[in-house]
Amino acid sequence: MSSHQQTREQLLETLKDYLRIPSISTLPEHRADVRRAAVFTAGQMRAAGLDNVELMEDPEGGHPLVYGDWLHAPGKPTLLFYGHYDVQPADPLQEWITPPFEPDVRNGNIYARGAADDKGLLLILIKAAERVLRGQGGLPVNVRFLIEGEEESGGEHIARYTASRPQRLQAEAAVICDTEMFAPGLPTICVGLRGLVYGEIHVQGARTDLHSGVYGGAAPNPLQALAHILAALKDRDGRILIPGFHDALRPPTEAERAAWARLPFDERAYLEHEMKAQALVMEPGATLFDSLWARPTFEVHGIRGGFTGEGAKTVIPASAVAKVSARLVADQDPDTAIAQITRAVNEACPRGVTARFQAIHAGPASLVDTDNRFIRLAAQAMTEEWGVETVYVRSGGSIPIVGLFNEHLGIPSVMMGFGLPDDNLHAPNEKLNLDNFFRGISATARFLELAGA
Ligand code: BES
Ligand code: MN
Repeated sequence: MSSHQQTREQLLETLKDYLRIPSISTLPEHRADVRRAAVFTAGQMRAAGLDNVELMEDPEGGHPLVYGDWLHAPGKPTLLFYGHYDVQPADPLQEWITPPFEPDVRNGNIYARGAADDKGLLLILIKAAERVLRGQGGLPVNVRFLIEGEEESGGEHIARYTASRPQRLQAEAAVICDTEMFAPGLPTICVGLRGLVYGEIHVQGARTDLHSGVYGGAAPNPLQALAHILAALKDRDGRILIPGFHDALRPPTEAERAAWARLPFDERAYLEHEMKAQALVMEPGATLFDSLWARPTFEVHGIRGGFTGEGAKTVIPASAVAKVSARLVADQDPDTAIAQITRAVNEACPRGVTARFQAIHAGPASLVDTDNRFIRLAAQAMTEEWGVETVYVRSGGSIPIVGLFNEHLGIPSVMMGFGLPDDNLHAPNEKLNLDNFFRGISATARFLELAGA
């Protein structure tokens, strides 16, 4: 092995160091950790041989972007590599077999928060650039890296930066390593993501908490009012009842539906072993892939209010809050969706309380046209690495920057990702398959060669 080729052990040690940093972007108490992850990312980019590596601070107080480039391939295309160094919170902690920020290798997987979402996959991009750059003394294409630290909490900083259309983001295509393979050993390009509206429903009853015996029977109950509102937005069969919410749906093409039908997939195994649930609950009449990839959702994430401690307390709470979100698909407009939810909440609000929907963040869905040279070359590189034809799928998750790169920079995104469906993203025992990590580096390095040929 030549000196520029890092051993698997060296790559693994770097990944572990990265995963030890609890860069939870949504929790203020982890602000310094998020910054440490930014500094670590910049250090890796410098070590890879990139130029102009720097932390770009957010004037509005968000987490820093990390930028770096290598622009010494005149006449060749420029690729914009994206990833995120922030992670989701790790709770519930007691569910982890080993602690979330003490990476542990078991059965060919590395377990830690952020292993697959997204530090492990982001490191694949950096290490692929490093392998080609150090190994061949240069890259066959120009590259820019734009890495963010608030993808899991709304991504306001990168959104503002991208909307300003800086010269630094000039590129022919973005390359996004934040998605997964459809099945183990099956190279996959993601061509569609759902958008997202996330917010809170606030319900206010009396001005203070009330004794439920003295006032109960006559006082409004905000928690029960909230339950009525939530039930009015989605029925017990799973049908979304927000008026107008389905008006703008663009159904998948026949060709896309046919391709989905050819995917290796066992619905029962999905239910029992991946989702580990008792039944699929979809909008009546919709198929599973449509429900996950081509239809909107409305979900409740948490409800706050009243007394939830041990024992009993006879109280009517003065207020209640529900955290909710809706996934959006093409061609739903986020602002329209916010207006529709707002109206539905107001209309469902029972007598005696006030209710309002407050959006926290929103981003559009994205659909990528596969008729694109970079997507074809990425598929070729992955097909060469795994020896299997690459498939094109959508994902139900959201990566808001994909829509913004398209809108503001006019560039498509190549979403080549190396996670697996059972990686436990956002859940306890998140993992990344190490074979995918190493092969991902090789496939991405090969993609760089193909893109510059
Ligand atoms: N990497 C995920 C999205 C994803 C997961 C895409 C699986 C494809 C397959 C991303 O980091 C994520 O979780 N995004 C958030 C975005 C939100 C907080 C704005 C999401 O989807 O909830
Ligand atoms: Mn991610």
